[in-house]
Amino acid sequence: MNEYIRMSKKPLACVVLAAGKGSRMKSDTDKVLHMLAGKPMIKWLLGTLAQLSPEKIIVVTAPDMEEVQAACAPHTIAIQQEANGTGGAVKAALSVLDGFDGDVLIALGDCPLVSLQTFSDLIDSRGDAGFSVLGTVMNDPTGYGRLVLDEQGIVQKIVEEKDASDEERQIQIINTGVFCVDGKYLADWLGKIEPSNAQGEYYLTDLPKIAACDGKICSAIATLDPSEVMGCNTKADLAVLESVLQNRLRHEALLDGVQMVDPATVYFNFDTKIAPGVMIEPNVFFGSDVSVEAGVHIKAFSHIEGAYIKSGAIIGPFARLRPGADIGEDVKVGNFVEVKKSTIGKGSKINHLAYVGDCEMGENVNFSAGAITVNYDGYDKHKTIIGAGAMVGSNVNLVAPITVGESAFLAAGSTLSKDVPADALAVAREPVKIHKGWAAKYRAGKEKKGLS
Ligand code: UD1
Ligand code: CA
Repeated sequence: MNEYIRMSKKPLACVVLAAGKGSRMKSDTDKVLHMLAGKPMIKWLLGTLAQLSPEKIIVVTAPDMEEVQAACAPHTIAIQQEANGTGGAVKAALSVLDGFDGDVLIALGDCPLVSLQTFSDLIDSRGDAGFSVLGTVMNDPTGYGRLVLDEQGIVQKIVEEKDASDEERQIQIINTGVFCVDGKYLADWLGKIEPSNAQGEYYLTDLPKIAACDGKICSAIATLDPSEVMGCNTKADLAVLESVLQNRLRHEALLDGVQMVDPATVYFNFDTKIAPGVMIEPNVFFGSDVSVEAGVHIKAFSHIEGAYIKSGAIIGPFARLRPGADIGEDVKVGNFVEVKKSTIGKGSKINHLAYVGDCEMGENVNFSAGAITVNYDGYDKHKTIIGAGAMVGSNVNLVAPITVGESAFLAAGSTLSKDVPADALAVAREPVKIHKGWAAKYRAGKEKKGLS
């Protein structure tokens, strides 16, 4: 759980800008709906903002962004009719802000990883200033607006890269795009922004100059961690944000007592639940909705999604658990085994090269190499039920629907399409024929031919 300190008790409203087309993403999906660790980018941001307990959160979208609007529920949506810049976007929220007289925190939908403490510090830092802006120092500031500061650290202006002089481009202190503005002045100042810049847009970044005309200053704070304020304009940025987030999730898991040999190679989903004491080997991927109980060992190169793994189970190496895999205590799922929508009873072993789908497997079943459930007839899925203690031999095909009784013995290589009673042996294969001496005669014949 995040803990943070916010000193200011002033009322707070948050405005999230998400109406931009995001054309640099070259994607049919709206930019802020791109996933980070299995959750849309904007939801990460909204989750953090909600923890500040604001009176309202307003998300500005374009008129046709129904999917973004739905993803932002239950927060208020404001529509920016025309994508005419970040200043225009905040203007679109004014009618919903309705003269709000408190701190207005403006955040960018494409800058989703700002921490709760940093937002809070920005709000607290405003004091009597007209507004404050969050900056950071970037080794490579390319593409960001730059903060032009005076000797006291007061922001004189924010200059966009496209409008910057060569000298201004050398500045490494960048505008993260996150602002905290005194709500009293917001509407007035927004009304004074002119689209007189390289892109012909209404820039929110014109506010310092406009506020200065009212004798109000713009203060700035900087976060020491540029990774939390990285914006997302391209798929390359998205990949960097994903890695920032994965590092956070890995760190949290390690502090929670999860053991990882090489954390950098383990990928989590936002909702992955792993108990303390679980051991994870390198190159493991968790998709959505996975819970792992204490004492589980996940071996290298396993891909796990939608699975519940009970204590003492050993998974992998090279295991694939798909949605609905419910793995019982002390179960072994070994290499090249796929389990889907199946319950595996305590102590059962599926050690190598097997497919188990739509199956209810009792306790202590041995499901040998190459055995599979034949669960699909080309149209429908069918169920396989295997009683406790059954021995499923190698290369057995269980043609579902089928029920195998407790402690039954299924001979290797059998294709079974009939139920097998408890304690029975089922064999479905050709009897073995032995032709004594045949091989020797065959070889002799071949070799004679070769000599002639
Ligand atoms: C913006 C800042 C830049 C800063 C950078 C930080 C301006 C003019 N520039 O640049 O100083 O360094 O963010 O990441 O503010 N949006 C709207 N409506 C619009 C345009 C944009 O809602 O008409 C939203 C976008 O959806 C996005 C955010 O505002 O979430 C930022 O827009 P974007 O075009 O990405 O701005 P940058 O060029 O990154
Ligand atoms: Ca951006």
